[in-house]
Amino acid sequence: MKILTICYSLTGNNQKLANYLKEKLNCDTFEIKTKKKIGFSTVFMGLVFKKNPKLKEYKINFEIYDKIIFVSPVWFGKLAFPIKSFLLKEKPNILNYCFLTICLGGQKDKLEKELTSILEKKPFYIEEFGFKKLKEEGKLKQFDKLNEKNFEELKKDIDKSLKYLI
Ligand SMILES: Cc1cc2nc3c(=O)[nH]c(=O)nc-3n(C[C@H](O)[C@H](O)[C@H](O)COP(=O)(O)O)c2cc1C
Repeated sequence: MKILTICYSLTGNNQKLANYLKEKLNCDTFEIKTKKKIGFSTVFMGLVFKKNPKLKEYKINFEIYDKIIFVSPVWFGKLAFPIKSFLLKEKPNILNYCFLTICLGGQKDKLEKELTSILEKKPFYIEEFGFKKLKEEGKLKQFDKLNEKNFEELKKDIDKSLKYLI
């Protein structure tokens, strides 16, 4: 069983998740990169103008993979725009996929609907690893960027999901 993790991360949280999956599942990973650097202001501009960013050139041999695991943040209750660009571009190549995210949490059903509507197929699994609780407990120090200790706290939930990915 060959698995490819496809990740987008702006502030590093979902990159941590992708790295952890690589370690646990021994999968290949691909990082989505935008042509223009994205910052918080461009994220808001993207929301206003409803434009998905252009991606840097890449080549993926989808045929050799049995499963794809998408890993990406959620912005404004929706898929982060770069992953949306990727899904729209690669729709015919994405056959068996699941979606994982480290985000605040609370919109799993909405995300499943968005994914299904873009790709016209349901994910075989979807999970949010929400950090709302860590935030409420005052454990997040710098905005919403998780440090190693915060990530350790989410690992229990991530580990529970691993069996659904293989
Ligand atoms: C502009 C913006 C909007 C966000 N909107 C949501 C949201 O609607 N729901 C949510 O659960 N998290 C939301 N978040 C939190 C991110 O999903 C979360 O911080 C994520 O872990 C960031 O991932 P990254 O570090 O991989 O970029 C938002 C973050 C940003 C920057």
